[in-house]
Amino acid sequence: MESSDLFSPPAPIPSAQAATEIEALRTQLNAWSHSYYVLDAPTVPDAEYDRVFKALQALEAAHPELLTADSPTQRVGGKPLPEFASVRHAVPMLSIRTETDTEPTGAQNFDARIRKELGLLESDPPVEYVAEPKFDGLAMSLRYEMGVLVQAATRGDGEYGEDVTQNIRTLRQIPLRLHGGAPPVLEVRGEVYMRLADFDALNERQRENGDKTFVNPRNAAAGAVRQLDPGIAARRPLSFFAYGLGEVTPPEQGGPVFDTHYALLQTLKKWGFPVAAQVEIAQGATELIAYHQKIGAARDGLPYDIDGVVYKLNALALQRQLGFVSREPRWAVAHKYPAQEQLTSITAIDVQVGRTGKLTPVARLAPIFVGGVTVTNATLHNLFELRRKRVRVGDTAIVRRAGDVIPEVVGIIDKPRARYVPNFRMPRACPICGSKVVREKTEMNHRCSGGLFCPAQRKEAILHFAHRRAVEVEGLGDKLVEQLVDTGVIRTLPDLYKLGFTALSALDRMADKSAQNILDALEKSKNTTLPRFLFGLGIRHVGEATAKALARHFGKLDAVMDATPEQLLEVADVGPIVALAIRTFFDQPHNREVVEQLRACGIHWEEGEPAQQAPKPLAGQTFVLTGTFPTLSRDQAKDLLEAAGAKVAGSVSKKTSYVVAGEEAGSKLDKAQALGITVLDEAGMLALLQPVDAATD
Ligand code: IVH
Repeated sequence: MESSDLFSPPAPIPSAQAATEIEALRTQLNAWSHSYYVLDAPTVPDAEYDRVFKALQALEAAHPELLTADSPTQRVGGKPLPEFASVRHAVPMLSIRTETDTEPTGAQNFDARIRKELGLLESDPPVEYVAEPKFDGLAMSLRYEMGVLVQAATRGDGEYGEDVTQNIRTLRQIPLRLHGGAPPVLEVRGEVYMRLADFDALNERQRENGDKTFVNPRNAAAGAVRQLDPGIAARRPLSFFAYGLGEVTPPEQGGPVFDTHYALLQTLKKWGFPVAAQVEIAQGATELIAYHQKIGAARDGLPYDIDGVVYKLNALALQRQLGFVSREPRWAVAHKYPAQEQLTSITAIDVQVGRTGKLTPVARLAPIFVGGVTVTNATLHNLFELRRKRVRVGDTAIVRRAGDVIPEVVGIIDKPRARYVPNFRMPRACPICGSKVVREKTEMNHRCSGGLFCPAQRKEAILHFAHRRAVEVEGLGDKLVEQLVDTGVIRTLPDLYKLGFTALSALDRMADKSAQNILDALEKSKNTTLPRFLFGLGIRHVGEATAKALARHFGKLDAVMDATPEQLLEVADVGPIVALAIRTFFDQPHNREVVEQLRACGIHWEEGEPAQQAPKPLAGQTFVLTGTFPTLSRDQAKDLLEAAGAKVAGSVSKKTSYVVAGEEAGSKLDKAQALGITVLDEAGMLALLQPVDAATD
């Protein structure tokens, strides 16, 4: 008896107690999610959320009878569906009449119509409206019964839509359970959309994987919503804005009473829905016009696509009085902006070299007015995407320009070509400097290997070389480099060291004193170290840590420059991709020449012997530094730690071994404490380093 007791599993928590506990955890998680996803104001560290989430999962696994569809654990998952079920909307989903006149007169026309239909005289006061952005996504109806999300449906033909509940559950911005006080039946109408940043990141990911990219955020959102596999839908980042209601419990059965559309939106916020911050009350046509202009000006900076604004009569009694014509309400109108996508023809395809050496095919276009500006060039991103979209010179392209994003060719109109047009090819030599064009097997992008020599990469290369953690030329900032390169004073990196006082002081806004300071800083930078110099060369994949490892391993620059890929691979930290990048760099005669010239200008360092492995007491440990230390600068602390074999990271994660905190340490310290990571002060850190000093004594 006794021994069997020892081996029996822990007694399960009785169901009633488990139910209370589960409820508490769900409420907590829902509150945190709402702060994070809807209010955009996180209240707990991710790790704490994960911990509570796991606790809830464990409890639900032990008590499957208590699992409900509105649990935060039920947002992801579900099996792929064979097809979507059709659902009938209790209240039809209407469309809005569109005012195609993109001039302010569009708002005047609407206001005049409303005034006439309400029988108002010219002497009557202005009508009160609500003005909202017209989100460019897809309409969604969310049905809540007893406060729980039971169904999400697309608009379909307005009467019947598709049941996409499984996918919509994965949207963190949509409450699975309403925050207090909601009526027994509530249908919330709104727009599912994809934020521009999420869309760009998604397409970037697709591009890197060589997968098909999406034409625009609306298509990407629609594709995700209509994805039969909820697992895939969950990985597509969608957002939501609420803008109205469908079926609601009537007031006589205890449903809510609203006087205005604006009050309704405020209540939706209270129930847990995101409502756009740009929603405003407007009095009469004058304020509608002002709103149209204000949002039009802000459009490029908004984090999501809009295709216009919507004006709605604010008083719900007046909305009811006006009613509908066919399937459109008389009390609302959409006032459009110029389209963000247009058709035009491709006159040529050129190649541009970016600041990092990336080669981008660019379509030259017959000028086209799109997204509010005239566009003559649009990016084609890379060779593979160009091929997949089957783009050739002479084709009719769909050009998109939205937000601050560079205009792009998102596709072509598929029609037979009148004559044969050769396929575009990437040049073998950089169109700017003639260096070899390379592409790593795992990469989609072609690059110029010219590095320091390529004028397109010149500014970047100079700034990188002069960086504080490279050879350090104090005071050489981007404005100055820009001027030096644009005026042709500097063509190659070594030219930097040939600068004279006259050339410098002739520059815009350059006082004699500043010119002298730059010359002094240049002189000072000549006395450097091999790791700083190697890092400064800006070889792809060679960051500071790799530069240090190379210097330590080979001791001398010539040994690095002449190392075979096999020898390079012997260096800790250097894998095949890095080894190839180093080899390619030094195989370019231009680059070797730049190095020689820099040495000829007087740049020098102490060369060493190839290293025998020094003891590394902190190898494998990751440190994060925060705040101000009593004696060491951040850089000094970093150097000491790295010399002892530690990695120094910029942010705290589960993988962090220690956080070193000084005065005025910020959120990194909070995060370390939340994750239970050991926090040291400067003295504590120095104590850890002690064995190194002892060994060298
Ligand atoms: S109200 C009865 N407000 O525009 C009026 N619609 O044709 C119902 N839309 O696909 C719509 N932003 O999804 C309304 N702030 C907004 C909107 C909005 C976008 C979409 C809606 C529908 C279309 C209306």
